[in-house]
Amino acid sequence: MNYQLTETPEGIALTLPSQVKWRAYQIDFGQGPLRYRFEHLQGRNELIAKAIGWKKGDSFQVFDTTAGLGREAFLLAALGCQVTLFERHTAIATLLKDGLQRAMTDPTLANIIERMKLIESCAIEYLNNNTLPDLPDVIYCDPMFEARTKSAAVKKEMQILQSVVGSDADASQLVEISLKFAKKRVVVKRAHAAPTLKSNPDLVFKARSHRFDVYIKT
Ligand SMILES: C[S@@+](CC[C@H](N)C(=O)[O-])C[C@H]1O[C@@H](n2cnc3c(N)ncnc32)[C@H](O)[C@@H]1O
Repeated sequence: MNYQLTETPEGIALTLPSQVKWRAYQIDFGQGPLRYRFEHLQGRNELIAKAIGWKKGDSFQVFDTTAGLGREAFLLAALGCQVTLFERHTAIATLLKDGLQRAMTDPTLANIIERMKLIESCAIEYLNNNTLPDLPDVIYCDPMFEARTKSAAVKKEMQILQSVVGSDADASQLVEISLKFAKKRVVVKRAHAAPTLKSNPDLVFKARSHRFDVYIKT
C-alpha cells in the first residue's frame, strides 16, 4: 500500500510512507490555504465562478463529480451554491468526510458546509443508476491526468492524489454523461496544455497552470 490512513485525536490523517517532507495530511477547511482562499473569495471575479456562469445571488445546484480533497467544492459552496460532491476512492472519501464533519463544528464555516453533501460513489454509476428528483444546473469535472512530473515541487495535495488515486481513465465518459444531466453547463478543469476531453468547448477560461473548458447546454 502506498499510503496509510490513521485515526488521530484530531481526526483522520493520511501519510505517504515515501514522503519525508511532511508527516500527515488532513483536510482542514478552517485553516491554511483553504481558509485563506475562503477569506479572500472574490465573488464573480473568481475564475471558477465565471466558468460555472455564477453571478451574485445565484444559488446554483452543482454536482462536483470529482470531489477529491473538496477544495473546489468548498469554494463553490462558499459562493452560495448547493454542492453535491461525488468521490469514488474510499481513502479520499474517508478523508473528505472527516474534514466535513470537523468543519461542521466550526461556527464560521457551518453554513457553508451545510451546502456540501458527499456521496461516496462513482458519479458515472450514480448518474446511470439513479432517478434524480432535480437535475443540477452545473456539473463540474476535474479528473486526474497523467502526472507530467514527479518533482518534489509538486504540491502536497497533488502528491496525495497522484499516489492514492493515480489517473482517471474514464474521464471522457464522465464528461459525456455529465452533458446529458446538466441543465445549464458542464465545466471541465484541465491542466494548462492538456487536450480537451470533448472537442470544441463553447468557452475556455484560462489560468496560469490550468483552464476551464465550458460546454453550454442549449
Ligand atoms: C484531480 S482530483 C479532484 C480535486 C478536487 N477538484 C479538489 O478540489 O480537491 C480527482 C478526484 O476525482 C475522483 N474521481 C474521478 N472520477 C470520478 C468519478 N467518476 N466519480 C467519483 N469520483 C471520481 C478521483 O478519485 C479523485 O479523487
